[in-house]
Amino acid sequence: MEWRPDRTAKKAVYKQIADYIEQGISTGLYSSESALPSERLLAKELGVNRSTVVAAYEELKSLGIVERKKGSGTRISTDIWGISHKRIPNWGRYMEDGSFLPNLPLVQRIRTENQKRNIINLSSGELSPGLLPREQFKTIMAENPFLDHLGYDHPQGNAALRETIAHHVKEYKKIHTLPASILITSGAQQALHLIIQCLLKPGDSIAIEDPSYCYSLPIFQSAGINTFLLPVDQHGINPDDVIALHRKHRIRMLFLNPDFQNPTGLKMSPARRKRILEISSELGIPIIEDDPYSLTSFNSEVSDTLKSMDGNGNVLYISSLSKIVASGLRIGWVIGPENVIERLADAKQQVDFGHSIFPQWAANEFLKSPSFDKHIHMIRSELKIRRDEIVVSLDQYVKKEVDYFIPEGGIHIWCRLKHAVNEQQLLEESMKRGLSFVPGSVFGSQKRYVRFTFGREETDVIGEGIARFAEALSVCVKT
Ligand SMILES: Cc1ncc(COP(=O)(O)O)c(C=O)c1O
Repeated sequence: MEWRPDRTAKKAVYKQIADYIEQGISTGLYSSESALPSERLLAKELGVNRSTVVAAYEELKSLGIVERKKGSGTRISTDIWGISHKRIPNWGRYMEDGSFLPNLPLVQRIRTENQKRNIINLSSGELSPGLLPREQFKTIMAENPFLDHLGYDHPQGNAALRETIAHHVKEYKKIHTLPASILITSGAQQALHLIIQCLLKPGDSIAIEDPSYCYSLPIFQSAGINTFLLPVDQHGINPDDVIALHRKHRIRMLFLNPDFQNPTGLKMSPARRKRILEISSELGIPIIEDDPYSLTSFNSEVSDTLKSMDGNGNVLYISSLSKIVASGLRIGWVIGPENVIERLADAKQQVDFGHSIFPQWAANEFLKSPSFDKHIHMIRSELKIRRDEIVVSLDQYVKKEVDYFIPEGGIHIWCRLKHAVNEQQLLEESMKRGLSFVPGSVFGSQKRYVRFTFGREETDVIGEGIARFAEALSVCVKT
């Protein structure tokens, strides 16, 4: 036998062997009349442990491809290859071969852990239940029980909501636009996905911030996009870094989150905003401005968005209601040149036939109502209370072990650990104690960072969360 499993491959050796045997069955290498090679023989031929062959045969058995009986070895399943021609698909192989990549393992791990009751969740980037405008939405639902249209809506989004968003961005973000230049999406996330799918192609290079929320999204990798990192300091990225990067890699797009950036909580300075727009125009590189957080500004001062400063149509602007109203509404939007918006809307129609009418309608009623402005004021002061609470707790429990930057808005605080620790171990030790947070590597940071979200939990448990973190950290620093 010439074939040998590849020990350097990502796929487990037993899975490679299972795939090899399955392929051998379909090509006739193994016939249904005779038994498959014994575990011992196959292990010898492939140079692996017998237990690895056992695992491979068990995998094939679970898929219904082989039958295993004590004493008579392993045979090709007669049910499948014989009389009935029934064949169970190898779902494992399909799942591995799909072009859309799964989430990062750490993200999957945190998601599973967050399902547990009593976990203190300092990881999910959303508002706590107490901050959601439940009463206002109950009133909206009760007062407007009938929708006049329940068919497919315009793929670009409901016309009334687009009109309201045009007013909203003018009032709160100084962006002047028309409903025809707006696309309603399923959160900012879908906006990012549509842009990647429609405006970029495999092999393109883009630049993202380092660290960056975008790094946590395999959607770039799934689309075959090369991502290059622009380091962030306390004023955001250094715009001139883009020039050097572009010379080397022909950057086709810049993804920036200038306000209360996820994960650092930093704001890009006005001077750098101006400069990045100049560079974008000089080099002809479009900017994707991702802005879910600017309205959370604790002192109510909202910086000029890149879109509001953009005289040349270089910026595609993304925002969402997830961090200021409710993430479960799944209402986001993109603002850009009409032809680009039409292209994205055409894709959205193919993906989901346009956004569901119910959240669009509810969002429109809320955004139009006087409650919205009051709600934003409440969110700002409540988030500031939570921010203050986490800062006090960090000082109380881990002052000697952690440095951090105090954010003036948003929902995240980015902490640097003064001592090297194994971040996987730190996460597991924290989870054992009923706490979740996000390790820095999820955002591309190679250094010792963690992100805590202070917006997701009620104020009274934030301190307990940091106390649990301090305990977990002390275990990891010792080992
Ligand atoms: C910077 C940034 N962009 C986009 C998103 C996606 O948000 P959503 O799809 O809920 O609007 C998030 C969520 O955490 C984010 O932090």
